[in-house]
Amino acid sequence: MALYSEKVMDHFRNPRNVGVIEDADGVGEVGNAKCGDIMKIYLKIDDDIITDVKFETFGCGSAIASSSMATELIKGKPVAEAMELTNKAVAEALDGLPDYKMHCSVLAEEAIKNALDDYYAKKSQNNN
Ligand code: FES
Repeated sequence: MALYSEKVMDHFRNPRNVGVIEDADGVGEVGNAKCGDIMKIYLKIDDDIITDVKFETFGCGSAIASSSMATELIKGKPVAEAMELTNKAVAEALDGLPDYKMHCSVLAEEAIKNALDDYYAKKSQNNN
């Protein structure tokens, strides 16, 4: 059996939504201290809908595939729904990751949550 699913290979070789959003409404960055991999997520949000999302990942193939899939899963979705995204859902959408690579999908969940926290923090500042 192949170690990685076709979907993982596809998103690793041809990642979706790579890049930066200059005027992002929320930015989140997380790292994994053990492997040293870093993921950064940029969100553009209008009326609580994620209208655009980009990522930069300095990391392993599974982290790149997870960020790519995670951005696809939250694009066009309400922020509340994106907040519920779990690393398990990302891994499932990729048709699975090897057990010892599950932590790579956790980076995607955490980076998105950080970016959403940043969005909420900026929003409450603007309302004051
Ligand atoms: Fe570090 Fe995959 S090995 S995120």
